[in-house]
Amino acid sequence: MSEKLLKIGHRGAKTYVAENTIASIEKALEFDVDAIEVDVHKCKSGELVVFHDFTLDRMTNGSGEVSKHTLKQLKNLKVNGQYEIPTLEQVLDTIDKKCIINIELKGRDTALATCKIISKYIDTKQWNLNHFLISSFQHHELEAVYKFNNQLRTGVLTKASVSDAIEFANTINAYAIHPNVALVTKDNVKTAQEKGYKVLTWTVNDQLSIKRMKTYGVDGIISDNPDLI
Ligand code: G3P
Ligand code: CA
Repeated sequence: MSEKLLKIGHRGAKTYVAENTIASIEKALEFDVDAIEVDVHKCKSGELVVFHDFTLDRMTNGSGEVSKHTLKQLKNLKVNGQYEIPTLEQVLDTIDKKCIINIELKGRDTALATCKIISKYIDTKQWNLNHFLISSFQHHELEAVYKFNNQLRTGVLTKASVSDAIEFANTINAYAIHPNVALVTKDNVKTAQEKGYKVLTWTVNDQLSIKRMKTYGVDGIISDNPDLI
């Protein structure tokens, strides 16, 4: 692929600041990234929040499932003793079109709410379709995105099989395949690209692996330390 390699911050800039926080997003922007990947869940009161795990226990002073807490309850918690859990809208307002946002639909039933927010930002805040890339391991969430607006860019996440991901990508006219770094070969990158898909691999943190992915010709690298790309 002739276009430039995309430098993508994973959960913001996870190596440097607590993942999926506004401070982590700001750190990634300081590194002049091309895109920032975040994870979304729907909370009990219906808003989309940016958080990785299905449960609060690892990253906050709370406990139990994110989806069983209201936004008000989540806002009373601290990530790593310090940060708020942000809403997707707060993250979008922080990025403010300075780079692409890769929204991973992590939680159940997140596609429609995400698409509605994207529409709102396109209609009222001068964002455009190219600012967004929606990825998921969950095929039905990606199908829901495709049904809502087939022009939205989608990425099929896989940690199992690039060829299966390509097969599914074909059914939703996906933009990209997002394979775990352990699956990537020079050949499967070429195959995916020949079929018209970008290849964005994760999570590539060490210099040697970053170099290897570059020699394989991937289109983008998702990294906890995007400054090394
Ligand atoms: O989107 C790439 C990567 O973030 C997927 O895995 O578990 O880090 O969300 P995970
Ligand atoms: Ca993710």
